[in-house]
Amino acid sequence: MEVKPDIKSESEAPAVSSAPRSPRIHGRYKGPTGDFCCVPGCTNSRGKCNRMGKQVSFYTFPRDSKRLKMWLDRIRLDVLSEDGHLVPFTPKNHHRVCSEHFVGGKKVDHPNSEAYVPSEFPRNAVRKRTTKRSLEAGLAVQVVTKKQKKATAELAPKGRPPFSVKYRFPLPFLGPVPIVYSAPTDHTYINLPSVMSQGVVMETCTCTAPVNMAVIKYWGKRHKDLVLPLNSSISATLDQKQLRTKTTVAISPSFEDDRLWLNGIEERVDTVRIQNLLAELRQRSIEQQSCPQEWFSWKLHVCSENNFPTAAGLASSAAGYACLAFSLAVLYRLRGDISDIARRGSGSACRSMYGGFVIWDKGTKADGTDSIARQLYPETHWPELHILILVVSDQKKHTCSTAGMEVTVETSSLMKQRIRLVPDRIKEMTSAIEKRDFHKFAELTMKDSNQLHAVCLDSYPPISYMTDVSRQIVHMVHEYNKLKGQNKVAYTFDAGPNACLYLIEEDVAEVVSLVTHFFPPIGPTEEFYTGLPTGSVALDQFQVIASQINLPKQPGAIKYVIHTKPGPGPCVLTKKVDSLLDISGHPKYDTRGEPKSVTTDQ
Ligand code: DP6
Repeated sequence: MEVKPDIKSESEAPAVSSAPRSPRIHGRYKGPTGDFCCVPGCTNSRGKCNRMGKQVSFYTFPRDSKRLKMWLDRIRLDVLSEDGHLVPFTPKNHHRVCSEHFVGGKKVDHPNSEAYVPSEFPRNAVRKRTTKRSLEAGLAVQVVTKKQKKATAELAPKGRPPFSVKYRFPLPFLGPVPIVYSAPTDHTYINLPSVMSQGVVMETCTCTAPVNMAVIKYWGKRHKDLVLPLNSSISATLDQKQLRTKTTVAISPSFEDDRLWLNGIEERVDTVRIQNLLAELRQRSIEQQSCPQEWFSWKLHVCSENNFPTAAGLASSAAGYACLAFSLAVLYRLRGDISDIARRGSGSACRSMYGGFVIWDKGTKADGTDSIARQLYPETHWPELHILILVVSDQKKHTCSTAGMEVTVETSSLMKQRIRLVPDRIKEMTSAIEKRDFHKFAELTMKDSNQLHAVCLDSYPPISYMTDVSRQIVHMVHEYNKLKGQNKVAYTFDAGPNACLYLIEEDVAEVVSLVTHFFPPIGPTEEFYTGLPTGSVALDQFQVIASQINLPKQPGAIKYVIHTKPGPGPCVLTKKVDSLLDISGHPKYDTRGEPKSVTTDQ
């Protein structure tokens, strides 16, 4: 962060609040400027302290860039925009930090001193009013200037909506802030609440991350440990309203071990994937000097939950690792793309770091630094595109993707052919998405899914993720497309039997009716269908279509249907109530999602 040197040096700032008042000019009192403490929640001003007889000094921000960064890291004054752009806080000459924020009530200039940086902050005060003065002091709400607008617009990824909003000052340590962020390009400006439990600090962050569904599949690695793929892949990120992982991460000197809870059950943290992800993240954080050093010695608690069946081929590991990487990146204030960190957890997780249509470039470098995800088009690019997830089984799959890929790469001769074909398919798919050409998009999606499952069957021993029900869904889709004379629906299957159908919004009602007709629910219909609403369909027209599709009815074969559409990337939740961990850093909820009885809420 660039800072202009202060006109008045720190030492030149008056040590105590004894500055004489300026004379009245044109009948209006002009008080001394720069005498408000800009620490959020602190109400000290020179005038107030004078009146109360408080001995308080008001310091300017340091000129030394290292020390300045340390101050800013502590005070957390960066400004965020509601559409996810970064506006770093740049101290002005009039910005002051009062001596009450330093250990011992006085700033000390020796780097070994505790009072070298501010460390004492108010935790309970809530600033209610926005006044001209509070604005000038950098508090409450700021309106973006043209210069800031230009600077931040240059940071915006392709296709982001035009920059327009007011900046909301996030009130660190204080009140709730709404969901604010969905662009993982900079994680430095989120102000997260520090929580105090029995006098010990806990730094915490809660985020959500989406599921993604590949239309050109990733299958096979060129480097197992670094999780580098043999081919590039493309996916759509699904709306988090229907499918998402939510994760709270917390670090504290009071934690004795690293611990992880997944859907209420404690899991191991010493897995290779988690350890690789953490190592990469800490390394990046050290390189960027993004957080106080002592944080690296503090233990980590992670609590995560999905709102959909875990490990049933619904890309839960993608959302899970994406959410873990993202939450930690925000907590550690990392800058830049972190899709490569998420990739260390699970390959497909890197695509969940962005919204809309996302490509994961396979990269060519041996160290994998160019094997990263990037957004092709935002979720707003193709608003008519909808998605139906047909959950055939919500049981855990028997061959995990990692093991399946290994067998395929080692034994399938068809796989070599696939690797030669994919680059052209990537180009064709990119163009189909760009032109919103559904017919072509559907053809490529179905062919690629079929090829993935063909190489799985060509593996030795063969791997089969699709079941009879999956194949009946494939048959139903092809029959329907044939009757319509063009591709109206596309299916795709990951490493499981569940189908993901891509289709255009206006066809959703008819296709849902078809699914319900051939795979009628056994239980209540309202539990069968969830997500976005569908319209109705003309009965006679539908009956004509259904009667021409040769498929036996299979009651109960599909457990439920989720209707969704492409959505944005990960988000930060800054309301304390969103945290999955209580004030002691333990899960608030049990395995059924019920609040635990002995929980002290934050
Ligand atoms: C079939 O990302 O789960 O869903 O990198 O070994 O963790 P690992 O594999 P994972 O593989 C997903 C494969 C797929 C296709 C895809 O999402 O591209």
